[in-house]
Amino acid sequence: MNVELYEKIWMWASGFLIAAFVTTIAVGVAGSALQPPSHVETIDPTKVWNDPRFAKRGVSVDEHGGATVVLIAMMFAFQPAEVHVPANRPVTFRVTSADVTHGFEIVGTNGNTMVVPGYVSQFTTTFRTPGEYLIVCNEYCGLSHHLMSAKLIVEAQP
Ligand code: CUA
Repeated sequence: MNVELYEKIWMWASGFLIAAFVTTIAVGVAGSALQPPSHVETIDPTKVWNDPRFAKRGVSVDEHGGATVVLIAMMFAFQPAEVHVPANRPVTFRVTSADVTHGFEIVGTNGNTMVVPGYVSQFTTTFRTPGEYLIVCNEYCGLSHHLMSAKLIVEAQP
């Protein structure tokens, strides 16, 4: 069978790209231990307001200066609607939903997760730049989805 030279080049080039993509995933998983935020912690979505893990919502700071933010997402708001966290410290977000699937995106940062009822979404990130950030729901959750937002204030540390 005669294969044109250009066709051979493109076949090898696309083969190389596929191998390169698989390699980046393999290196990320095995080398850097990367994984998507995992939904392993479950919760009864009808009882989130009384669950001890979400009874006290808002920010708590540990002895190392890191912060944990506990929020509940619901149609069509986040509770609390404004949180203050320290800059240059690890901040762990713990979010769950009281009703349907929502999104939790801190615009302009790498903070982003789905919020699925029945599960606790958790991720940790560090904010280098103090300022005001917008938190939006990026999963369509109903008629007022576009109004669902909150505010994150990253405060400079003395
Ligand atoms: Cu909540 Cu869209």
